[in-house]
Amino acid sequence: MTGYLIAGGRVVDPSSGQDATADVLIVDGKVAEIGSISDAADAQVIDAKGLIVSPGFVDMHTHLREPGREDEETIASASAAAAAGGFTAVCAMPNTDPVADSASIVEKVWALGREVGLVQVVPAGALSKGQKGEKMADIGEMIQSPAKVRLFTDDGHGVQDSLFVRRTMEYLVAFDAIYAEHCEDAALAAGGQMHEGDRSMSLGLRGVPAAAEELMAARDIELARLTGCRLHLLHISTAGTVELVRKAKAEGLRVTAEATPHHFSITDSALENFDPNCKVNPPLRTDDDVRAVIEGLRDGTIDAIATDHAPHALEEKDQEFSYAPPGMVGLETALGLAITKLVEPGHLSIAEVVSRMSTQPAAILGLDQQGRLARGATANICVFDPAATWRVEPSSFRSLSRNTPFRGWELTGKVVHTFFEGRETSRDQVAELESA
Ligand code: DOR
Repeated sequence: MTGYLIAGGRVVDPSSGQDATADVLIVDGKVAEIGSISDAADAQVIDAKGLIVSPGFVDMHTHLREPGREDEETIASASAAAAAGGFTAVCAMPNTDPVADSASIVEKVWALGREVGLVQVVPAGALSKGQKGEKMADIGEMIQSPAKVRLFTDDGHGVQDSLFVRRTMEYLVAFDAIYAEHCEDAALAAGGQMHEGDRSMSLGLRGVPAAAEELMAARDIELARLTGCRLHLLHISTAGTVELVRKAKAEGLRVTAEATPHHFSITDSALENFDPNCKVNPPLRTDDDVRAVIEGLRDGTIDAIATDHAPHALEEKDQEFSYAPPGMVGLETALGLAITKLVEPGHLSIAEVVSRMSTQPAAILGLDQQGRLARGATANICVFDPAATWRVEPSSFRSLSRNTPFRGWELTGKVVHTFFEGRETSRDQVAELESA
């Protein structure tokens, strides 16, 4: 018998409620057994004492940049970064060049993901041709392609035309597909460099008001009510949006939401030294917003933690703040930020973090071989040390890009092993040296 025996870890699987010490045996790409296992013949033994064994993480929001900006990231480099961050699936955002608005592009992204074979690459499709918000993209063909697209978004841009939103939702509902919005009213956000408030005033930068996000979130919730379409709100960042989602859920609407690690970890105060790595859309908000996002993650209003991993070339980020493009990388710091900012202060349990990073995003995307750790299931697994501390050193990222505001931060919580379809796709080198 070949495979892996992950021995003596704390197995946390929110999909079944399991949270207990157990061994996990991987054979032929599947979870062969979970329990007390003595007969594992020639399986490679991985000592997981003191470690958490969870389903692999599922990132609902990743910019892989291929096709078009392979200098910033490729499907191969993003997959390696994802594996290092404990992910076994990533949803590829369609704002590539060309835009993923047709079956041929999503199929290519999906096929390249399979060829690389480090994570499941799940392409999202654009809602509109060229993400211009005018003509509908080839949605039906993307759904029927081998990529089986389920989530559609013009991420990077909010869709401004409400009638277009309504018609697209009416179309998507027939397929039970998801309308996902980057909530940003373009007129209100025009020229904005950061969150609009006291800090933007004192720094002299034009701001993006919270209302730019909240107006569009409110509109989309009303249109989801009208059409019955599933709605997913991407990277929500304000207290007002969290409240809108909370109310929509209480009314039984089919609305889900995600939040990024940066929106629960740092505020607009991080912009005081004009670090372009802190420039992101939606912008970093206030203390009150961060508290509301954390409460939303705690009480289940926000379903998923999603990275919005947005690689940018050094020469583009390294210029005057107002010229730098928005976005930051996030795949390799997501777990560390979640444990440091959510678990250590007592806001969420480890099991709740696993549910927001794995079980719930897998359920929203309908990925039946992700987000669970059950006998017979595909072995998509993350093994992490919830107590290990480490310093963020961007030069050691697997990502091709380095644009993170967390350089030098000491984080708690480190991915030690990742398994995708039963193959080990990442192993932490420090852990490897220690066990040698
Ligand atoms: O900051 C961002 N960068 N937000 C987005 O929605 C898009 C992303 C990108 O593609 O760079």
